[in-house]
Amino acid sequence: MPELAVIVPTYNERDNVLPLTAALRLALKDIDYEVVFVDDDSPDSTAEVVRRLSFEDPRVRIVHRVHRRGLASAAVEGMMATNAPYLAVIDGDLQHDETLLPEMLRLLRAGGLDLVVGSRHQDGGSMGEFSAARVALSQLGRRLSALVCRAHLSDPMSGFFMLTRSYLNDVVRSLSLIGFKILLDLVASSPRPVAIREIGYTFRTRQRGESKLDLLVGLEYLELLLDKLFGEWVPVRYMLFGLVGAVGVAAQLLLVVLLMNAAGLLFGRAQLYSSIMVIALNYTLNNQMTFRARRLHGWRWLSGLVLFFCACSVGLFSNVVAAGTLRKLGLQLPLASLAGIVIGSIWNYGVSSILVWRVNRRR
Ligand code: GDD
Ligand code: MN
Repeated sequence: MPELAVIVPTYNERDNVLPLTAALRLALKDIDYEVVFVDDDSPDSTAEVVRRLSFEDPRVRIVHRVHRRGLASAAVEGMMATNAPYLAVIDGDLQHDETLLPEMLRLLRAGGLDLVVGSRHQDGGSMGEFSAARVALSQLGRRLSALVCRAHLSDPMSGFFMLTRSYLNDVVRSLSLIGFKILLDLVASSPRPVAIREIGYTFRTRQRGESKLDLLVGLEYLELLLDKLFGEWVPVRYMLFGLVGAVGVAAQLLLVVLLMNAAGLLFGRAQLYSSIMVIALNYTLNNQMTFRARRLHGWRWLSGLVLFFCACSVGLFSNVVAAGTLRKLGLQLPLASLAGIVIGSIWNYGVSSILVWRVNRRR
């Protein structure tokens, strides 16, 4: 059984597979290790390249996932697919410095540590040639991470680290597994203080292929934070749905004023038209964000919109009835209204998940 498993999540990294395995072979020449690529069915057939390589090199393995995406879940599924007592995660594009792995292993072997993190903000560490915007973004992410993570980490957004199997076993059932930031998830999910060491490294520039970090990854980060903060009470998808709803309320207030003042409509008309526009806006936002994994296109987009309209009308009706009833029972105004909104939105969310975006449909 290998002592160390190096987990490499990949998506469209075909041209990096050979250089990375060669670099690992060199860096880990005195260590009994295996490399587990976890590929999400990349269109560039990364998995095929790994599979071919594994015929020659038995230390190379593949976990090939279909209909799945996500760096964090890929990393953990790779860890669960091996028996090694020490587990490293490294990007598949050679941006992380694999020559640090033996030192990380040495630190963990010595005992007393759960986790060794490759940090860009530690002595000897650097962001490399990051654009100014990317540095600022990383900074913002770092600030926000303090909301969920009590342990001190100079680089909580790092994707390069090594941990012990026993630490993984302690946290694996509490992980959110949303998005890119698996290290933050691992540390924030811990029921006990985590013994961490950080060592500096310089983030290299990508030579081949392209980064998958985009706006969506930012949204997923927000989801991870929400899930870590409130996920035990409210599903994160419902929180996003509610967020979209809140945007809708603000948009409606604006639209009513606009339609009355600029277009000269009476209040009743303005309210009706703005409602229709806001329902369409919410549908679009939910299609792009909340239910993006089930995003509807073409005709299905249109029929989904009609269904969403019907669902929201019923939701509005129950909202008004519930609020009215509670009001009659003596509940104060803002509370009764809020209760109505919550009841209506739960209905809307239920119908949206089950009927509009059909989250349980098999593909
Ligand atoms: N299996 C799988 N599924 N792998 C993925 C996915 C996915 O959906 N998305 C990205 N990856 C793989 C990429 O193929 C690459 O090997 C690695 O995850 C990192 O993705 P990049 O797109 O290269 O991210 P980056 O370089 O912008 O950011 C990385 O480095 C930062 C600094 O350490 C990530 O590791 C960040 O999480 C990290 O903060
Ligand atoms: Mn990268």
